[in-house]
Amino acid sequence: MSTSNWILVTGGAGFIGSNFILDWFATGQPAGVLNLDLLTYAGNPANLASIQHRDDYKLVLGDICDRDIVTRLLADYRPNAIVHFAAESHVDRSIVGPEAFLRTNIEGTFNLLRCARDHYNQLTGDERDRFRFLHVSTDEVYGTLSPEAPAFHENTPFAPNSPYAASKASSDHLVRAWVHTYGLPAIITNCSNNYGPFQFPEKLIPLIISNALQGQPLPVYGDGQQIRDWLYVTDHCSAIRTVLASGRIGETYNVGGGNQRSNLAVVENLCALLDALCLGSPHEPHAQLIRFVQDRPGHDRRYAIDARKIESELHWRATETFETGLRKTVQWYLANPNWIESVSSGAYQHWIQSNYATRAHLAEAGAR
Ligand code: NAD
Ligand code: DAU
Repeated sequence: MSTSNWILVTGGAGFIGSNFILDWFATGQPAGVLNLDLLTYAGNPANLASIQHRDDYKLVLGDICDRDIVTRLLADYRPNAIVHFAAESHVDRSIVGPEAFLRTNIEGTFNLLRCARDHYNQLTGDERDRFRFLHVSTDEVYGTLSPEAPAFHENTPFAPNSPYAASKASSDHLVRAWVHTYGLPAIITNCSNNYGPFQFPEKLIPLIISNALQGQPLPVYGDGQQIRDWLYVTDHCSAIRTVLASGRIGETYNVGGGNQRSNLAVVENLCALLDALCLGSPHEPHAQLIRFVQDRPGHDRRYAIDARKIESELHWRATETFETGLRKTVQWYLANPNWIESVSSGAYQHWIQSNYATRAHLAEAGAR
């Protein structure tokens, strides 16, 4: 089936973007998907192999900073919406090399906004009423919380602490300015930590699963008592669809699942799941592999999301609990060892070497 009805997704070959596109088709959404992705180390078109032959899906290899490509795609396909995921997304990499984060996350978002504005200005009638720019952002723009502080809400002041968080906060400010100054119909979502299938194994949960399966050390930064608020990735995808369909222009919606866990508790949960699901593993009990290593510089202590606005206004709810989501995630990685292998290229090995070789082990689990 071909279509003249499209949305433009940026960064759709990454972790959340590819889950979003697979879910978009699985839930029968009435528009094709144009996926603009530069296929950096984090982008993997194989994630989308099951839909790559559809007439209403197209992957375009290109950079969101490229004005010509974005202008041409908007003119040729006249999408109803831009759903903007493309970013450099790993905090540790932003500490080692912030340049790429400033370029893609700030300059890239600026380029999309100026192209979207030019496009929107020549739309009329239904096409103009329908058009939306949805900017996918993070809870990290709000900074860090003390243990007893209330969760981040949409009016919490920005206080980004890492180069990644600062670059995302900058992009959020640009989007806000394009709404207020130019009337671009944009909406922002700020979500907490996602987990699930297709997450690159530089991030905590897939890294721990991948290392544990190989009997490698499980690195926990600092004392492991930092808290993150975990959301299963398809719940984030349904939140984005909900905001796209009925979110109010110019608004921000916080998205989270109400699952605050310390990093150590997450790692211990994963080890217990692997013990249960990999009977007879030579590495059992997997918790023996836990190692406390030197902390991330400027490490935020706690994130927590107050999602009452999207829940009450748009009737969105997360459907997975942390327990069901984590079990599904581990089962997916166990069923897809080739996926981990295919993304663990020489460049990945180089990153793991450089990130962890310099982190002195502080103590073994239980010996703190
Ligand atoms: P990811 O790193 O897995 O994927 C990023 C994708 O963007 C990749 O496919 C990559 O090839 C592409 N990309 C990078 N630079 C590009 C460029 N210049 N032009 C075009 N494409 C480019 O990221 P993710 O974890 O899927 O995150 C997606 C978005 O969601 C990001 O904006 C991130 O800030 C946000 N977010 C992530 C989380 C999370 O827990 N992962 C939580 C909240 C918000
Ligand atoms: O909060 C949303 C953010 O979540 C997104 O905006 C980011 O794109 C995404 O990467 C994620 O950022 P975090 O820094 O929270 O995710 P990461 O998986 O890198 O780390 C999760 C926690 O685990 C964090 O406190 C650091 C810790 N950690 C991480 C790694 C990779 C470890 O203890 N050991 C590790 O080896």
